[in-house]
Amino acid sequence: MEHPNIIQGGMGVGVSDWRLARAVSAQGALGVVSGTALDTVMARRLQQGDQGGHMRRGLSAFPDRALADRVLADWFRPDGTADTHDFAPLPMREAVRAEGAPVPSAAEAESRRIVDELTVAANFVEVHLAKEGQPGLVGVNYLEKVQLPNPASIYGAMLAGVDYILMGAGIPLEIPGLLDRYARGEAGEIRVYVDGAPKDTRYVARFDPAEVLAAPPASLKRPAFLAIVSSYILAATMLTRASGRVDGIVVENQTAGGHNAPPRGVLELDERGEPIYGPKDDVDYAKMVGLKIPFWLGGSYGMPDSLRASKADGATGIQVGTLFAFCRESGLLPELKRRFLKAVEAGKALVFTHPDASPTGYPFKIALLEGTLSDESVFEGRLRVCNIGLLRQPYETGDGRVGYRCPAEAPSSFEKKGGAADLAKNARCLCNALLANLGLGMSYAGARLEKPLLTVGKHLESLRLLIQRFGMDYSAVDVLAFLRAEVAGEAKT
Ligand SMILES: Cc1cc2nc3c(=O)[nH]c(=O)nc-3n(C[C@H](O)[C@H](O)[C@H](O)COP(=O)(O)O)c2cc1C
Repeated sequence: MEHPNIIQGGMGVGVSDWRLARAVSAQGALGVVSGTALDTVMARRLQQGDQGGHMRRGLSAFPDRALADRVLADWFRPDGTADTHDFAPLPMREAVRAEGAPVPSAAEAESRRIVDELTVAANFVEVHLAKEGQPGLVGVNYLEKVQLPNPASIYGAMLAGVDYILMGAGIPLEIPGLLDRYARGEAGEIRVYVDGAPKDTRYVARFDPAEVLAAPPASLKRPAFLAIVSSYILAATMLTRASGRVDGIVVENQTAGGHNAPPRGVLELDERGEPIYGPKDDVDYAKMVGLKIPFWLGGSYGMPDSLRASKADGATGIQVGTLFAFCRESGLLPELKRRFLKAVEAGKALVFTHPDASPTGYPFKIALLEGTLSDESVFEGRLRVCNIGLLRQPYETGDGRVGYRCPAEAPSSFEKKGGAADLAKNARCLCNALLANLGLGMSYAGARLEKPLLTVGKHLESLRLLIQRFGMDYSAVDVLAFLRAEVAGEAKT
């Protein structure tokens, strides 16, 4: 299989949406939609009246008409506008016991139906729209850390013929085998990590197409699977221990936007409070070549010579996020893009690797931007509510039940559930903040509106050069021209 040399990194929530992935894919690079929280994203777009009609167009292509109609009946508000923010909450997903699970009550079964149907449809629609009317390759990105929706999400993307599944934020060992099962038309499940559960108690997240779709296809195309990891050791682990075929590896370093792997060894912070990385965190590319599998390099590979440099190290190419995050087609609010790009132009933009802002426990890059949750006073002023719950950690309560806790929920409630106070101190609610980045922030506690929080990579020089050349309102095509400048003339990049 000939792989593209440039991957536009999946950027959640909704930064790399179908528009961006489509623009990139149409140019012969790999366009990737973010699969994170697509159920909520689509429910909110529909409640905002489905501006432009794209969700309804995507749903009209969904193979199960009755299911698509139920999704519309559940979520579409014809009177909604871009200013609608009083969104209805989605039922939260729960892990199920693999053996001896109690039969769900009628109300629980109905909640599962609503959220499964929405998830499978939303992932289908995002991939379908990215592929619509153009022959390019489209991928979807998920996070291993956000386990519960992954089986239903992956099935929905496969139903739309997704070409690549990319997965990071953890070690996605079980996903390749899950893709094989769905490709054969079978049901699939992944093991869910439940804190404090005895080893022999298996909790799972399960999606059985036959239980959700009226007539699921007998087989589906098996997409290529790329694992996103930060080290040679994890790449080798994926190749030896994964439940099915791994088609390639994206090696991402600690300068990349989004979540980063923590430094190896004991976490130490520098005088600014950022994690200190050292030589142990560097990846030996010669060893990567020895794995004899295609790999791409991510994190500060956004310069015109990056593609050539990656190939010199034996890589197939590069994965780029930050440059695409601020282009015309990305899902970020134009006002946020403009403010950050102005700071970049003025040489005043600052990006901080926060050791504990993310409830995942992974370091998370945040742009220091007034009025966002990077601002301590904005963070302190937010009432801590947990109403989306993607980053909740399941735990066994002691009486055999499963509870859920997130460091970003109210500290008193987190601690009551056995969570450690120091994890809660700086934790930001990424679920709500990242949705606010798109204009899909929720109003809560009366008139309050959730505030954004931007994540950006550390290497801003490439962004500065890009806007110097193409201006602030640059496009995905401009980014690709910038990245391909030195290797222009190659057949496929
Ligand atoms: C706004 C933004 C959001 C991101 N979200 C995700 C994500 O949800 N999942 C993921 O695997 N990587 C995510 N990333 C990382 C990118 O996919 C990409 O690997 C990274 O940005 C490459 O480094 P660069 O920022 O220096 O270009 C994100 C990056 C940015 C800038």
